[in-house]
Amino acid sequence: MTRDEARARDAADPLRGLRDRFALPEGTIYLDGNSLGALPKTTPARLTQVIEEQWGRDLIAGWNAHGWIDAAARVGARIAPLVGARPREVLVADSTSVNLFKLLAAACTARPDRATILSEPGNFPTDLYMAQGVAGMMVGRRVKTVAFDSLVQAIDDDVAVVLLTHVHYKSGAKRDMAAITAAAHAEGALMLWDLSHSAGAVAVDLNRCGVDLAVGCGYKYLNGGPGAPAFLYVAQALQEVLHSPLSGWMGHAAPFDFGDDYAPAPGIARFQCGTPPILGIAALEEGVAQMEGVDMPALFAKGQALCDLYIALVEERCDGFALASPRDAAWRGSHVSFAHPHAYAICQALIARRVIGDFRAPDVLRMGFAPLYTGFEDVWCAVDMLAAVMEARAWDDPAYRVRAAVT
Ligand SMILES: Cc1ncc(COP(=O)(O)O)c(C=O)c1O
Repeated sequence: MTRDEARARDAADPLRGLRDRFALPEGTIYLDGNSLGALPKTTPARLTQVIEEQWGRDLIAGWNAHGWIDAAARVGARIAPLVGARPREVLVADSTSVNLFKLLAAACTARPDRATILSEPGNFPTDLYMAQGVAGMMVGRRVKTVAFDSLVQAIDDDVAVVLLTHVHYKSGAKRDMAAITAAAHAEGALMLWDLSHSAGAVAVDLNRCGVDLAVGCGYKYLNGGPGAPAFLYVAQALQEVLHSPLSGWMGHAAPFDFGDDYAPAPGIARFQCGTPPILGIAALEEGVAQMEGVDMPALFAKGQALCDLYIALVEERCDGFALASPRDAAWRGSHVSFAHPHAYAICQALIARRVIGDFRAPDVLRMGFAPLYTGFEDVWCAVDMLAAVMEARAWDDPAYRVRAAVT
């Protein structure tokens, strides 16, 4: 594809107008929306309104007057259609890590005779770390990791919960949610999916797949801003059975009775712990709103097409890169990784030229194609820059070898 053809494809794209909803800096090609989503243009005004007109004017009355107390459930209900859940099955709360802790511990408690939390090596670190924390706290529990290709065969009657990330953070590989969930259930285990790289990027149908539990980030494809609150999902049938180990007052049945003894709220509300972050939830709500009314199957198909174009152009124009993501779009999320021995320096050279992707250790150059605001010409220009960086060996500069705290 030539640059003109890429531009023509953007011009013919019925979803192209969605890009105008985001404040993207001029001259930057942003291919990291899978790490931190872009800023919706409505978010600053919304936050100003919540700060000045609600907090500033009405102070504590805002909890009742402005629906702050219901915000976590309200925004959870707006996320629900993006993941194939019923409105009252999703709650905005805490961080993804904390939600993993809550749901893993709840799942282990619900399966007292089973010792194992089963996951795969190379899952996102926080998933494994939180599982290790839960297992360490609960006598007789352990975390077992089995390579993905043999994971399903490793599910047995000792597994309390299977923990997987639906779209792998590094490779972008998309797992078969229906089949793996069914395999977990066949052995009596619960299934917990991390949707951080899925929600808003690929079709997810938790209800149809019979999923028990899920978590996901608010700051990636949901565009909730840096450190946005996360979400969690608990299937309706399990909500009265499971208990959050973080039995904070906001998950109590009657928090404003101020009783001494904990009694969980009915439904998803019991997975709330402390006071919800109203400013963060307001920003997340603006992010989620950008997808409402959008033809989501078309949006997901566009994400796949952007990834396909990127793979084709890199393989055509740049030597030395090995595709580290599935080639088949049906089994991929909306990001693509290529391995290269100098991936870190290459990534820094690109960032210096305002093509923003990221590096994942040890050798992966990862590019995310958030279909709401990424165009085909962006992909073309990014690969053109990559080809130029490679041709001139521009990456081979000591400045690009210095590791920043966040990669
Ligand atoms: C799969 C996955 N889970 C969890 C997280 C992060 O969790 P937290 O928001 O708690 O830092 C990420 C962040 O990139 C991720 O990719």
